[in-house]
Amino acid sequence: MQVQWFPGHMTKAGRQIKENQKKVDIIIEILDARVPLSSRNPLLRKITAHKKRIILLNKDDLADPRATKQWLEYFRKEEGAIALAVSAQNKKSLSRITPAAKQLCAGARWMDRRPVRAMILGIPNVGKSTLINAMAGNKKAGVANMPGFTKDMQRYEAGKGLQIFDTPGMLWPKFEDMHSGFNLAALGSIKDTILPIERIALFTIPYLCLRYSSELKKRYKWEELPEDPVLFVEELGRKRGCIVSGGAIDREKACYLLLRELRDGKIGRISLERPGEERKVNGDEKEL
Ligand code: G4P
Repeated sequence: MQVQWFPGHMTKAGRQIKENQKKVDIIIEILDARVPLSSRNPLLRKITAHKKRIILLNKDDLADPRATKQWLEYFRKEEGAIALAVSAQNKKSLSRITPAAKQLCAGARWMDRRPVRAMILGIPNVGKSTLINAMAGNKKAGVANMPGFTKDMQRYEAGKGLQIFDTPGMLWPKFEDMHSGFNLAALGSIKDTILPIERIALFTIPYLCLRYSSELKKRYKWEELPEDPVLFVEELGRKRGCIVSGGAIDREKACYLLLRELRDGKIGRISLERPGEERKVNGDEKEL
């Protein structure tokens, strides 16, 4: 199936990032803690490869703590990276970002003269605006007198010692595989109109049943989980009154219900990927 995941202005955003990253000291890369790899743009890694970075696993409050622990270990192995789990909605969890930025730049000659300059990057819906707002409020400033920066860059003063630069234009996910697209769609980071909702639900249910069977049983008061994803949707629809006239199950409504509850954290703290799992990339099995 050919899916048009994102519009064509990715190339422009890529160019801007490539140009502007030369002017900053570090990158702050925001990922969704529930799907860190699916929410990572592989192109971005290439463009900013030599840059030190803070990898933020955001929405930690919704993610499975066991999976997040594994992901932190995974990302901490990357050279020049500090990985932190945060929740942009919880200001306290963001207090470790500035010290981490300073730690990455420790020993630089300019450190006692100016704040650390960080470029913040993340695909849509990952929580970038929430994070900037929590760290810098409305302390927004242009870059007019900062040589080298393109005019449309935004600068934010994030308290003592850290300036955050935000790129205009959107950084879109670049998928090597459908798996990432489905994961992002399941969590509502890609519009529900791009893929049929039933396909998203049927893709996600086997993983939920494998990793989160007790959470599902508890939430939907099941003794045993339905045998396959289609039965899962039908039983859920029956239980929750998703019925069309004539008495048939409204499968689409049942799928929406499941995904909404997943996104809102109602089933529990759930992550849809972990390091070491197998997934199909361009038709071949690969390890995450
Ligand atoms: P973006 O700039 O990267 O596109 O993302 P944005 O900050 O707009 O966040 C996207 C959605 O994710 C928002 O919800 C926001 O509240 C939510 N969000 C961001 N960070 C966190 C977090 O750490 N934990 C949780 N639970 N949610 C987070 P929304 O429903 O789209 O908007 P709203 O209801 O907040 O208005």
